[in-house]
Amino acid sequence: MQYGFFDDNAREYVITRPDTPYPWINYLGSEDFYGLFSNTSGGYCFYRDARMLRLTRYRYNNVPTDAGGRYFYLREGGDAWTPSWMPMKSALDRYECRHGMGYSRISSARNGLAFSQVSFVPLRDTCEIHKITLANESNVEKYADMFSFIEFCLWNANDDMTNFQRNFSIGEVEIDGSRIYHKTEYRERRNHYAVWAVNVPIEGFDTDRQSFLGLYNGFDHPQAVFDGEARNSVASGWAPIGSHHIKAHLAPGEAKTFVFVLGYCENPEDQKWERSVPGGNHGVINKKPANELLAKYGTSDAADKAFAELKEYWRNLLGRFTVDAEDKKMARMAGVWNQYQCMVTFNMSRSASYFESGIGRGMGFRDSNQDLLGFVHLVPERARARILDIAATQFPDGSAYHQYQPLTKRGNNEIGSGFNDDPLWLICGVAAYIKETGDYGILNEKVPFDNNEALADTLFIHLKRSFDYTVTHTGPHGLPLIGRADWNDCLNLNCFSKTPGESFQTTANFESGVAESVLIAAIFAFTGPDYAEICRRTGRDNEAMYAEKAIVAMIEAVNNHGWDGDWFLRAYDAHGKKIGSRECDDGKIFIESNGFAVMAGIGLNDGRAQKALDSVKDQLDTKYGIVLLQPAYKDYHIELGEVSSYPPGYKENAGIFCHNNPWVTIGETVLGRGNRAFETYAKICPAYREDDSDLRRMEPYVYAQMVAGKDAVNHGEAKNSWLTGTAAWTFVSISQYILGVRPVFEGLMIDPCIPSSMKGFTVTRHFRNADYQITVDNSAGVEKGVKHITVDGNPNKGTVLPVFGDHRLHNIVVTMGK
Ligand code: GLC
Ligand code: GLC
Repeated sequence: MQYGFFDDNAREYVITRPDTPYPWINYLGSEDFYGLFSNTSGGYCFYRDARMLRLTRYRYNNVPTDAGGRYFYLREGGDAWTPSWMPMKSALDRYECRHGMGYSRISSARNGLAFSQVSFVPLRDTCEIHKITLANESNVEKYADMFSFIEFCLWNANDDMTNFQRNFSIGEVEIDGSRIYHKTEYRERRNHYAVWAVNVPIEGFDTDRQSFLGLYNGFDHPQAVFDGEARNSVASGWAPIGSHHIKAHLAPGEAKTFVFVLGYCENPEDQKWERSVPGGNHGVINKKPANELLAKYGTSDAADKAFAELKEYWRNLLGRFTVDAEDKKMARMAGVWNQYQCMVTFNMSRSASYFESGIGRGMGFRDSNQDLLGFVHLVPERARARILDIAATQFPDGSAYHQYQPLTKRGNNEIGSGFNDDPLWLICGVAAYIKETGDYGILNEKVPFDNNEALADTLFIHLKRSFDYTVTHTGPHGLPLIGRADWNDCLNLNCFSKTPGESFQTTANFESGVAESVLIAAIFAFTGPDYAEICRRTGRDNEAMYAEKAIVAMIEAVNNHGWDGDWFLRAYDAHGKKIGSRECDDGKIFIESNGFAVMAGIGLNDGRAQKALDSVKDQLDTKYGIVLLQPAYKDYHIELGEVSSYPPGYKENAGIFCHNNPWVTIGETVLGRGNRAFETYAKICPAYREDDSDLRRMEPYVYAQMVAGKDAVNHGEAKNSWLTGTAAWTFVSISQYILGVRPVFEGLMIDPCIPSSMKGFTVTRHFRNADYQITVDNSAGVEKGVKHITVDGNPNKGTVLPVFGDHRLHNIVVTMGK
């Protein structure tokens, strides 16, 4: 069943009933200030860091689900209801939620009273705007009471939900007309506060949760709303909230609009207090930044203008890569939603979603580098800055902190380093950036090692250390040592954990110096050539030769020790035993090494590449995508680690771990098999499963990290939507390898590999300061092969388009054929 539809013209997903199979969310905010926003107005917001600077409280894993949000309660004619359905689960005569690019809109109605809420974060400002319109659609006068409601988080989200002995005594607010200030801990150590304001005079307010709800009531039964009367409570400790009570008299046909703003404000150290208070500050906050912010959004027109700017921002961004094709599902995903998700993963890394609590992980070294791959064409300048941030957490020997904190940009000690794939992803990210922009200057930027300025060296040297780290950390078969894990966090070959609760990733009870990864070898073979080419293009010929030799040696090692007969091996364990081999009882074949090796072109000349992907198809493919391994591990293997701790069919133990499916897709395009490439693309693409939402459960407009594999009870059920490397890699697979519009060092390469039934398509691509309108004609019905290309009417030599850089639109016509 479907719970909505794509409105392609508006670039919105329209949810037509509130009781979706899971909360279907959206992200508000483009930089610095972010909100998570569900289709029933649930979620929360934060400034920069979801753990340290969270403005509103959210209860993960709560009963009922999705508890906490920006709620608006209505009471009219004695009837109290919530127009966003939750939290009261009110029966609605009409309901619709439209998730768009950086905004959401909920519209509903009950008994002739219509409600609409437009929620977004304006560009540049650190606030959420919620524009509410009430309209009387009946022919009698209506006297409505509206109560806003948010619950403040005491900033540190982790402390907020654990440290009650302190927190129940520290909550503080200030109320000033229609403005409610949350100023807990705004003393010597904090210089920030939140403000929750509305642009009209209010009838009353509440800032103490218990006064508003009643101690034994849930959000679905706020006593103040039922009584039609705010308590004017002033929070002192316990749980500070923000609620405005507004009375609206609406004649038949009349509509009224209210602009609510939830803002984050900071004051300089010496201007924290309001000086006008005689005899000192008395803890009265300096409201200057709030005044400035609220002055900007004091009217409905001002809110509309900010909203229009946001829409324009996204129109421009998505104008950088557009797709027109007969297959609307592919076109809307590649042209809109996939890119949108890439922006979200770039911004959030793996911090805050409905599966990531926002208090756990910081930015991942490998994750953020891969996120760049799907983002770099959108805002290259931000990609550049991110690369420098990431590189600064690298250690002088080329290894890296596995994660770093976005606020401090420093590596996380608790997790440390030793994930031996990490260094290579830096090369991969930087190569993607240079191919996109042609900016070799980034290589000369001075970047610290280990966040230490004294150890700074050029970014190029960082790349060299990355490359060398792999070269110098090989095991008995000449393959890279795996360390704590490679891309697969759950292949913990040196962990040997028997103690519950021990972290599989950071525990090493057995430093073997033996366990090797075929996947890291394949990543090296894929991304190493980019390093060599960067060297050549910057006049470092000797280094290029050294790199090329090292790559040949690595491929040799894979050829000699990484092939199992019908597919590529996955790894060698700490005892030198094969993993991902027909010799194994379980885990005979893994997806990652096969996809990546073929992407890298290993075995192309002798049929092994094709054999490997045929084996993947035979043994790992399902209706819903390709599972990670088979057969699933049925027992815990101490020598393998976390992978064998999951029940069969979930996560890394034979789940469809979507992130790696595009590696097979790309591998198939390397083989020239466009039909199969597209099949693997479409299987995990959410738009193709829209009418299967009861089983899939997650949003039909975003990728999920995992879909339950064939060994799981709920095969086909997705989990962990939004924050996954799947976003970047599927975008790479569809845009660069299937549609085949691929930035390379010398220009824009055109190399489509599509289903033979696809008659053609059009892509527009912004590339190095020019626009390319690329029309591909496949009336020949081939899967791969470009017969000729014309550029502005003239034949083009080869398949790489020139770099124009002239801010003009160029017309490219591509004819496929043999
Ligand atoms: C998660 C991690 C990522 C890892 C993957 C596979 O998505 O964020 O770093 O590669 O799992 O284990
Ligand atoms: C767990 C998850 C894995 C994730 C890792 C991150 O191991 O199974 O997917 O990458 O945690 O720490």
